[in-house]
Amino acid sequence: MSKLFTPVTIQNLTLKNRIAMSPMCMYSCEDEDGKITDFHMSHYVSRAVGQVGLIMTEATAVLPEGRISPQDLGLWDDGQISGLSVLNEQLHSYGAKTGIQLAHAGRKAVLDEDIFAPSAIPFDKDAKKPNEMTEADIRKTIAAFGKSASRAKQADFDLIEIHAAHGYLINEFLSPLSNKRSDMYGGNAENRYRFLKEIIQTVKKVWDGPLFVRISADEYHQDGNSQEDMIYFAKEMKKDGVHLIDCSSGGVVHAKIAVFPGYQVRRCEQIKHETDIPTGAVGLITNGLQAEEILQNERADLVFVGRALLKNPYWAKAAADELQEEITAPRQYERGWK
Ligand code: FNR
Repeated sequence: MSKLFTPVTIQNLTLKNRIAMSPMCMYSCEDEDGKITDFHMSHYVSRAVGQVGLIMTEATAVLPEGRISPQDLGLWDDGQISGLSVLNEQLHSYGAKTGIQLAHAGRKAVLDEDIFAPSAIPFDKDAKKPNEMTEADIRKTIAAFGKSASRAKQADFDLIEIHAAHGYLINEFLSPLSNKRSDMYGGNAENRYRFLKEIIQTVKKVWDGPLFVRISADEYHQDGNSQEDMIYFAKEMKKDGVHLIDCSSGGVVHAKIAVFPGYQVRRCEQIKHETDIPTGAVGLITNGLQAEEILQNERADLVFVGRALLKNPYWAKAAADELQEEITAPRQYERGWK
């Protein structure tokens, strides 16, 4: 039996396999209302039919000013719950478990309205200058993560992932490249972690299910967070009750990144072993054998698959064939999947 297709239990949640659909923004909401559309239904449900164990939604904004674009999914309003409940009902009916990635774009928001960041430093020369967040802005944003988590529960998600990667708001607080604050949210690693810590604490007041955090484990910049900083954050997250760290990289500033199969797995493996916390690997994991190698060598506990699942909603079936595994087909496909 392959490890990829061996069920795994994280906190109280059992996934039928270790394949997670990586969160991917589809920029497909209509009328700037942050609600799911027919496209989202087809997009996510087809991957559940394709036997992905964990379907993670795209980055879902906790506040309107936290969207990357006006077409982003949102969960800042109760009116956004019912569409997601219907989605969850469908995904669950195919045996998938579901996660929502809660996010705030920070200085990377491309919106007409005011945008916010730890410090008033634009992402690049073409980006809008963000407002430096006041303590009141910080409190409002932390509370918004809590309220969205509570709505996620009402919408029947099995898991929440906090998006602290790719140079979006939480990552901007974590990184010395974007956080130049002199109050208790800036300065040393403990202070830069405080914003994420308070978000985790606030989410956990309303959410007792599995909690993941996605981080950028490498900033590819000499003045960015070091590996020691990353290990420190990971250890703090473990103490704060995070169940899995989803290890991505980059995005805080423009940087040259050497991209090759499994290019982020090294960092993931290091965090897993030095922190003793379950991790998820992501980044150019494109076939079953590669996924199996990562799991068997205990470099990660889950594999997140992004673009390969955009190319092929039946990626799990292809991986199972490679690993000579028989997996359950949706009833209607049984004759084809033999
Ligand atoms: C992404 N990615 C991403 N990551 C994230 O944490 N939240 C998101 O909403 C998005 N949105 C997104 C959209 C699209 C179209 C792509 C291709 C990617 C990053 C993604 O989850 C994944 O980490 C990377 O694509 C690397 O994995 P793959 O694609 O090589 O398997």
